[in-house]
Amino acid sequence: MSSSAVMAVAEVSSPSNAKTRLLQSSQLSFSSTHLYSLRRSAFRPIPTTQKARISCSVAPNQVQTPIPVQVEGPKTKSECYGVFCLTYDLKAEEETKSWKKMINIAVSGAAGMISNHLLFKLASGEVFGPDQPIALKLLGSERSLQALEGVAMELEDSLYPLLREVSISIDPYEVFQDAEWAILIGAKPRGPGMERADLLDINGQIYAEQGKALNSVASRDVKVIVVGNPCNTNALICLKNAPNIPAKNFHALTRLDENRAKCQLALKAGVFYDKVSNVTIWGNHSTTQVPDFLNARIDGLPVKEVIKDHKWLEEEFMENVQKRGGVLIKKWGRSSAASTSVSIVDAIKSLITPTPEGDWFSSGVYTNGNPYGIAEDIVFSMPCRSKTEAELLAEKRCVAHLTGEGIGYCDLPEDTMLPGEM
Ligand code: LMR
Repeated sequence: MSSSAVMAVAEVSSPSNAKTRLLQSSQLSFSSTHLYSLRRSAFRPIPTTQKARISCSVAPNQVQTPIPVQVEGPKTKSECYGVFCLTYDLKAEEETKSWKKMINIAVSGAAGMISNHLLFKLASGEVFGPDQPIALKLLGSERSLQALEGVAMELEDSLYPLLREVSISIDPYEVFQDAEWAILIGAKPRGPGMERADLLDINGQIYAEQGKALNSVASRDVKVIVVGNPCNTNALICLKNAPNIPAKNFHALTRLDENRAKCQLALKAGVFYDKVSNVTIWGNHSTTQVPDFLNARIDGLPVKEVIKDHKWLEEEFMENVQKRGGVLIKKWGRSSAASTSVSIVDAIKSLITPTPEGDWFSSGVYTNGNPYGIAEDIVFSMPCRSKTEAELLAEKRCVAHLTGEGIGYCDLPEDTMLPGEM
């Protein structure tokens, strides 16, 4: 079976229609008194007449032709928030002319610890690039509303040039409007002594509701990364409630486990962790997951050739990775946050960047026609690759006789073999 069967290629298109409920593009704004004053504050459509396309199947510099940010006339004082009236005069900023079209990123659980790390990475340009302006749509709960405003204030104080809008709400239908990315972190976290499965029902209900909201208001190409536990099943619940969004757009975050596995292998081998590649996390983000050392590599060599202590690999290594989250909860008294946010960044980058030749990354994906004999209709972590546009075009030429576009001819580079294909 070809690796393309499990590749993580996906596309995100910006909606071509402007929506009037967006905040103005030139300032960060949020309500300090009442949540829904967002609706009252100066909404104005941002011109989005040109169709922009972001695709994880192309190299970053091919993603799209830079589109100058279009702006309306100068803002009046009452429409701006603080210093942004002065610093965000887009017309005065040469650099914005080479910026891409703004993308909408929705984050749930936005007042939580994971988000507190993640949002600042997103706003800094570290994730989507230094020429990608973003709008952050933050979803919280009634209980977290004050904290959510605190987050927005800190974002404001950070003066990120790429951060064009911030809005906060407790209504997923508002927050997910036109979302091109949805990072779903909000959930009850497990505490000491709990298993992730203990959260199945309570968090499942949150994800059913959010799936419905995504289905009705998000971009049809929205990419969804489910972080809240139990993330595989939450992703399944979410995608089942969003039948209008392709199931392949939903990912459950197992990148954290992959990173943990890489760290353990590097430690044991006495190498820096950038030498470790081809690590797969199979299955669930739980203690039953299988961190795959058989197909992993250290400095290009099979792990078993580098780490001779095979008993350690089969026992301690597996358990260290499987139980790392629980151990951290015991140490911290709460679940991991900083490393989780780093792994979300890694997961997003892997989806928008072609995977380096010969490598792959782990993600919980919907098992629809998977090549591994894994049960259908679940979300299961497996190795994925994002392909380049050139590679996909070459494959298309290869099957031209099947698509009615002439005589097919193949000129394909040798493909990366995924586990099970060797
Ligand atoms: C983790 O793996 O650190 C998170 O999923 C939190 C948890 O419950 O283990």
